[in-house]
Amino acid sequence: MLSPVSLMVAMLVVSGGAAAYTQDYKDALMKSIMFYEGQRSGKLPPYQRMTWRDDSALQDGFDNHVNLVGGYYDAGDNIKFHFPMAFTTTMLAWSVIEFGDFMSPQSGHAIQAIKWSTDYLLQATSIKDVVYVQVGDPYADHNCWERPEDMDTPRTSVAVTKDYPGSEVSAEIAAALAASSIVFRRIYPAYSNLLLTRAEEVFKFADSYRGSYNNSKVGRYVCPFYCDFSGYEDDLLWGAAWLYRATLNKYYFDYVSTNVYKMSRPWNVGEFGWDTKDAGISVLLSEYLFFNKVDWKPFIPYADEFVCSVIPGSPNPSVFYTRALSFLFVVYANNLKWAKRVVQCEHGVVTPSRLIDLAKSQVDYILGNNPMETSYMVNYGRNFPRRIHHRGSSMPSIKQHRDHIGCKGGTPYYESRGYNPNLLTGAVVGGPDEWDQFADDRNNPGQSEPATYINAPLVGLLAYFSEN
Ligand SMILES: *[C@@H]1O[C@H](CO)[C@@H](O)[C@H](O)[C@H]1NC(C)=O
Repeated sequence: MLSPVSLMVAMLVVSGGAAAYTQDYKDALMKSIMFYEGQRSGKLPPYQRMTWRDDSALQDGFDNHVNLVGGYYDAGDNIKFHFPMAFTTTMLAWSVIEFGDFMSPQSGHAIQAIKWSTDYLLQATSIKDVVYVQVGDPYADHNCWERPEDMDTPRTSVAVTKDYPGSEVSAEIAAALAASSIVFRRIYPAYSNLLLTRAEEVFKFADSYRGSYNNSKVGRYVCPFYCDFSGYEDDLLWGAAWLYRATLNKYYFDYVSTNVYKMSRPWNVGEFGWDTKDAGISVLLSEYLFFNKVDWKPFIPYADEFVCSVIPGSPNPSVFYTRALSFLFVVYANNLKWAKRVVQCEHGVVTPSRLIDLAKSQVDYILGNNPMETSYMVNYGRNFPRRIHHRGSSMPSIKQHRDHIGCKGGTPYYESRGYNPNLLTGAVVGGPDEWDQFADDRNNPGQSEPATYINAPLVGLLAYFSEN
């Protein structure tokens, strides 16, 4: 997995330097979704396109007599961390909700990528007031370099309960189920209803039994990998905001607008990622607030502050953005356009088109308009990362090399300077350092490791720029 620090490091804004190549957003979109097939855990379906992978982890959950077969491996390792997995799912669903109209002919694949996760999240929440939050022992897993198909490390499954709650992970799962219920509403209504009912139950559990999974019995499994650094209050608001969007039940809107004033920490205006949801909450609610002309406080001021805090005032900006922030730029820009508004910052006015241009320059940077002249998406463009920090990608395919490769048997593949034999098409890696340098080194996971939540906001951005 990526360290929290590397998550903060994103792309530099290219300030007029690199030549502007035209990017093939449709190709990148197709690949960004295909990536999820490479991360699949469980029994692979006959329509699997990433064919160097095979079935794996077919007994997950059996230690607790539950079926947790399925879902996604988190990154270059073989652990299923449900907190970032649920956030990934919420972002994929948000991508389809906002930009699904621009996804054709990839819409079906995008929806499949969501369903691979929601099927699993339903399994993880099938027992009332119990939420499974992780499968696999990250210490044992990270100590090995093994293909998922060969795994022989403990597949420990752990859950939060009434006595040992985990409000952040449960609320994020509720958000994922609620957002996905919107995606499935017209195409698969019965499934959509199931997702929404479960989302409400899981949210109620998250809210009624409050606490961080850090401090529960599962803390030693989830920390230091996906600790809840920012507290669980933002996740509860985020879950409620998605439930509001999915149900239009005023209870959830009132929940967000009253509890936002009760948070025990300051609002992090400019932050959005698997841990901190603040900026995402304001932007998500902005659509409803603009549309209904109700009291905008505090969310529109927060959304505006988000824009002002991340948009640089200088003409030659040099600021880090994550893909999730760029996604918010485009969503907020579209809502601003609809409301015929601009954002008034101390250093000047920010128009929706400025926000969209910035997001586009970030996407173009990832795809190749950067000083290294490389794309940071595997198998996209002429140059791309060849030695990504990813167990399955870096070892021979199980289809070619049937013999078991044990825990330490993978070390030579890890240490090799050779290219990865299997292309994890569409995987976007951590990326270059703040001086635009990239090593393409398996041993530098901060730069060379992909993760499910890196790709998810990009799916929406690529869809948008395919047709706009
Ligand atoms: C979770 O653990 C991290 C790391 O120890 C800590 O920084 C954070 O405050 C904890 N979060 C909560 C909600 O206790």
